[in-house]
Order: sequence, then C-alpha cells, then structure tokens
Amino acid sequence: MKVAVRYYSRGGNTEKIAKAIAGAVGVEAQTVAQPLEEDVDILFLGSAPYAFDVDDDVKKFIRGINVSVGKVVNFSTSAAVSSTRKYVEKLFAEKKIPVAKEEFSCRGAFMMLHKGKPDENDQKAAADFARRIVS
Ligand SMILES: Cc1cc2nc3c(=O)[nH]c(=O)nc-3n(C[C@H](O)[C@H](O)[C@H](O)COP(=O)(O)O)c2cc1C
Repeated sequence: MKVAVRYYSRGGNTEKIAKAIAGAVGVEAQTVAQPLEEDVDILFLGSAPYAFDVDDDVKKFIRGINVSVGKVVNFSTSAAVSSTRKYVEKLFAEKKIPVAKEEFSCRGAFMMLHKGKPDENDQKAAADFARRIVS
C-alpha cells in the first residue's frame, strides 16, 4: 500500500502530528510545498485553521493534485474548531477524491490556550490512529 503524508504548519503544532503519523506508517512527512509525484492509496493531509479556513497553500496543494489518490485522511490541530475537515472536503469533492470519515484532530497551542499541545499523548494517539488506518 502506497501512503503519503503532507502537512501545512505555521507554528509547528500540526508538524508534530504529521511527524508522528509519518513515523508510524514508515514514510517521510513533507509539507504541502512538495506535490504528490506518484499515485497513492492513502494521503494523510494535515492542516490547521487560521481565521476559520486553511491556508491558501493547502488549497493550492489540493487543486494541484494530478495523480490518483485512493482516499484522503484528514488530520489537524486547532484551538477551537473540531477539525479542518469541512474546509478541505469541498476542495476534494471538486477533484472527486474521497475523504475518509475517520480523521485525527487535537488541540494545538494558541496564545494563552492549550499550552504544550499537542503533547506526547497526542502524538502517540496520532501514531496509533495512523497504524489503524493502514492496517
Ligand atoms: C492567525 C491565527 C488564526 C487562528 N484561527 C483559528 C480558528 O479560526 N479556529 C481555531 O480553532 N483555531 C485557530 N487558530 C489556532 C490554530 O489553528 C492552532 O494554534 C493550530 O494548532 C496551529 O497549528 P500550527 O502550529 O501547525 O500552525 C488560529 C491561529 C492563528 C495563529
């Protein structure tokens, strides 16, 4: 099974989760600046909300996908919203790429909120989640 991990992270929170997921499934975590270069069965895509949307670089990455993707598994860190799934799934719908109902999300530190998050427990939970998805 071919798996890829891409993420966008301004402050490093989502990057921590991306690395935990990538490590668990044995691939490298790469940013969305790196386009997919070959077909994949599963794309783990990580992002965070900034003012109720994902960064334009995430949208550009999705719109630029020109390989076959079996399904996308969303993961995100956020201060308040439950996840970024709703921000990316309409873009994937345009590409006719399914987004799995399973996703991973956890709190990410933001100003005075959620200090230390994501923490080691979150990273372990993300790794366990990723192993379940690919098993
Ligand atoms: C400019 C800015 C806007 C944000 N807007 C939201 C938001 O609308 N909803 C939310 O839940 N979190 C919001 N956050 C919190 C981030 O999504 C959260 O800290 C996340 O973990 C950041 O991930 P990163 O470190 O990978 O960039 C915002 C953070 C920043 C810096």
